[in-house]
Amino acid sequence: MGGLMKGFCTLARVLVVLCCFTLLVAALVACAGAGTADSETAAGGGTASEEISAETVPEDGVALEEQPPQSGVPLVWDEDLSLYLLPSPRKSGEVSVEEALAGRRSQRVFTDEPLTALQLSQMMWAANGVSSTSGQRTLRTAPSAGATFPLTIYAVVGNVEGLQPGVYRYAVYAHGLQPVSDSDVRAHLRSAALGQSMVENAPLTIAIAADFSKTTDRYGERGIMYTHMEVGHVGQNIYLQAEALGLGTCAIGAFTDDRVGNVLQLPANEVPLYLMPVGHYR
Ligand SMILES: Cc1cc2nc3c(=O)[nH]c(=O)nc-3n(C[C@H](O)[C@H](O)[C@H](O)COP(=O)(O)O)c2cc1C
Repeated sequence: MGGLMKGFCTLARVLVVLCCFTLLVAALVACAGAGTADSETAAGGGTASEEISAETVPEDGVALEEQPPQSGVPLVWDEDLSLYLLPSPRKSGEVSVEEALAGRRSQRVFTDEPLTALQLSQMMWAANGVSSTSGQRTLRTAPSAGATFPLTIYAVVGNVEGLQPGVYRYAVYAHGLQPVSDSDVRAHLRSAALGQSMVENAPLTIAIAADFSKTTDRYGERGIMYTHMEVGHVGQNIYLQAEALGLGTCAIGAFTDDRVGNVLQLPANEVPLYLMPVGHYR
């Protein structure tokens, strides 16, 4: 009997030790598990929160400015001014002046992709839009001898979202487009430009015309040279803006003045100096 009791006691001790050991192991596993879970949560949570803060909440706590939509911006017809108001141009961008200078190349083969109203607006403004207003005095993106501004910019539209093909005159102060003709004149313009196909294929051709008298009235014969210099400034603006928008252009001087004048219905006092097709290029 005494031996039996002794055996029970030994068994009970062994069971107690086993239970304690099992509890100890379970506790250790639980701690280790909890540690792993914590470190994953910390790492995963940390990464996730960094991503969230980097993508949506910049350091200053202000939500990142949304990029303006690239398409679907409507052109508004202004009844009083009889023109289409262009959307406001952007005054900042992702491409530096140095990058635009380094990347600029004359492009002559364009895709069928249309231009958006915003791209058209940006091209018009870069060519010769208002960049500064002080009282009665406005200045533009290109310099002008004595601020005489002898140049007029025309948009020969073939494929621009929300705008019928045709010829439009750029109204600098309103930043709008006045319709001149509502027919697609690109084939005629190509013919007037010695058959250069880029004029017909581009969704937009910017034409620059000059009224020399605006500058010669003040500077005499020298005003002719000044006007030719000025169109160079405008042309370079168009090259650099196109490059910054991922578009291409090419300065064209080879055309018959009278024929281009007829196609664009230029007034008698204006002479065409440059044609610059603009579009997505191959
Ligand atoms: C005043 C002037 C007239 C030009 N006329 C034409 C033209 O009629 N057709 C054309 O394909 N390129 C024309 N060009 C573009 C030049 O051929 C081009 O600038 C030149 O080949 C250098 O290439 P890049 O502009 O890519 O640097 C003209 C350039 C200038 C400055």
